[in-house]
Amino acid sequence: MTHDSAIAAGDRTLHFPVHFISSMRKKTVSANLRKKLEQAAVKVMKNAHAPYSKFHVGAAILLTNGKIFSGCNVENASYGMTNCAERTAIFSAVAQLGPKIEIQAVAVANDHGIACSPCGACRQVIYEFGPDATIFFQGAAGPKQAHITELLPEGFRLQ
Ligand code: THU
Repeated sequence: MTHDSAIAAGDRTLHFPVHFISSMRKKTVSANLRKKLEQAAVKVMKNAHAPYSKFHVGAAILLTNGKIFSGCNVENASYGMTNCAERTAIFSAVAQLGPKIEIQAVAVANDHGIACSPCGACRQVIYEFGPDATIFFQGAAGPKQAHITELLPEGFRLQ
C-alpha cells in the first residue's frame, strides 16, 4: 500500500505524503459561506423523519456553482432503508441539476450537539461528486473541518 503521491520533476520523481497533496488542492470556503452552509444544515434538521433514533440530522452542500442544497435524515420502520441527511441533500441536488454537479463543501448538524461526521456510505457518495470537498461537522472537541480524502482515504472510482 502506498502512502505517497509521485510527481515527475524533470528527470526526477518527487514523493509527497497524500495528505500534503490533498491539502494543496484544498479550496477554501469563506467564513461567511461556511456560516451560511451551517445555518442551512441547522434549518433543514427540523424536517428530519427520525422516530426510531430520535436523532435529527441536517446537511447542506455547497456546489462549485455557488448553489446550496440541503437534506435531512429520513428513517424507515425497516431500519436499513434509512437515508442520511448528507445523501438526501446530494440526491436532491442531482435531481434538480443533473449529475454534473461538483460539491465544494458539506456541513452537517445534529440536534444532540454531539460529534457526528458523515457515515462511511455518505463519505463515498460525497466523494463521487466532491473528490476535493471540505466537510464541516461536529467533532468530539467541537466544530471540525476535514478534506473528504482525510475522511475517506482511497475512495472508490470507476473511471
Ligand atoms: N445520520 C445522518 O443522517 N447523518 C450522519 O452523518 C450520521 C447519522 C442519521 C442516520 C439515522 O437516521 C440517525 O442519524 C441515527 O443513526
